[in-house]
Amino acid sequence: MDLMEKIVSLAKRRGFVYPGSEIYGGLANTFDYGPLGVELLRNIISLWWKTFVHKRDDMFGLDSAILMSPKVWEASGHTASFTDVMVDCKSCKIRTRADHLIEDHFESQGKEKKVEGFTPEELTKIMSSEKIKCPSCGKVDWTAARRFNLLFETKVGIVPENQSQVYLRGEIAQGMFVNFKNVLDSFSPKLPFGIAQAGKAFRNEITKGNFIFRTLEFNLAEFEYFFNPKKEKWEDQFKYWQDQMWEWTTKTLNINAKNLRWRPHTDEERSHYSKRTEDIEYKFPFGFKELYGLAYRTDFDLKNHTEKSGVDLTYFDQEANERFIPHVIEPTFGISRTFLALLVESYSQDGDRKYLKLDPKLAPYKAAVFPLLANKPDLVKKAKSIYDDLKKDFNVDFDDRGNIGKRYFSQDEIGTPYCITIDFQTLEDDTVTIRDRDNTRQERVKVTEINAFLQKSLS
Ligand code: GAP
Repeated sequence: MDLMEKIVSLAKRRGFVYPGSEIYGGLANTFDYGPLGVELLRNIISLWWKTFVHKRDDMFGLDSAILMSPKVWEASGHTASFTDVMVDCKSCKIRTRADHLIEDHFESQGKEKKVEGFTPEELTKIMSSEKIKCPSCGKVDWTAARRFNLLFETKVGIVPENQSQVYLRGEIAQGMFVNFKNVLDSFSPKLPFGIAQAGKAFRNEITKGNFIFRTLEFNLAEFEYFFNPKKEKWEDQFKYWQDQMWEWTTKTLNINAKNLRWRPHTDEERSHYSKRTEDIEYKFPFGFKELYGLAYRTDFDLKNHTEKSGVDLTYFDQEANERFIPHVIEPTFGISRTFLALLVESYSQDGDRKYLKLDPKLAPYKAAVFPLLANKPDLVKKAKSIYDDLKKDFNVDFDDRGNIGKRYFSQDEIGTPYCITIDFQTLEDDTVTIRDRDNTRQERVKVTEINAFLQKSLS
């Protein structure tokens, strides 16, 4: 089994990630987060929120609606430009992304070629000159490449004649732009400041598999950082946020820097709204791929929303006695991809022992409590009372099944950093053993000190 297969299997078996709608044969490119997955996911989002919203004085949180007026997506350019280029095989009728076909074709020859953002005409030319075969039927019989919009359409209203078409948000950033004036009016912040949110985005995408790397709906966290381009150089802002993103990835999430790299976008692949974009890529088992993005969106969005809505989205700088549209830097963090990167990064094997070396801050359970023997009522009672106490402050697990070795095995596999065992000595001197997941060493700790021990590991 390769690493990806091991991770997908563990994720399903141990309740991290399940295939979506599985009992009905599944719905491609959708996944459900299970009882342990939802804990890991929420821990990532909370840590992100704490880092970029709570710890800063210049950031305002937001939770905007997923459904927005379709005018938002016209003004933002998404209805016109948020597209993938697709081709159909005339022989077997499969529809797939032209850029993926071309990139895979070159990869199979040991070459790297990035063609994301190429025009349909350019992609059609390459498909034809390279005589790229259909991965499904093997024929070379493609339609010309055409653009397809990624926005999911849905309808608002229950009376068919009065229904209006809306979109599920393709990015969460537009929530920040359409609420820019609201935040200005409520808080009168001074530039530079940011508006941040974390939530789901939806894209009607074709994927290459790779588990939760690319899905139809996914978790995203991002902020728009507004500044005055006359006072702050955008290059300095860009560099500042590049450093902050790197620090989050390598220090807060503890992802090894050797598995990460920055990659600037080419002119062809850069989004319609951006003057400069760089991605942080992570070395997934299927290659270096985008984890996060950083874009200089200029005043593109606020300017377009001002023009299209007729509402003034300028900022008044009292010192300079000047009114202008702020520019914006946008750091964006794929949370679902962070989840996958953390599983890849933390998956460890030591002989037969498999463990997830997750940072305690992110681990679903902070500790598991065991009575040494399940058939000794005194041990079980004491273990339950310690468990009940810890539950008030931490997400902890209780396990009295099987033998202690099996329980360690089971907790290691889900990344629980500490296993607390209540044994006969506990009944005499009120101490427990605490076993460390990473080095399997045990130490004796007073029951009254367990809480502080766990708090320290989380700080
Ligand atoms: N507001 C900017 C924006 O949405 P993006 O590069 O299109 O930028 C942001 O997406 C992040 O979302 C990416 O860096 C990536 O981590 C993640 N992402 C994009 N499409 C995804 C998908 N289909 N499934 C999972 N994550 C995705």
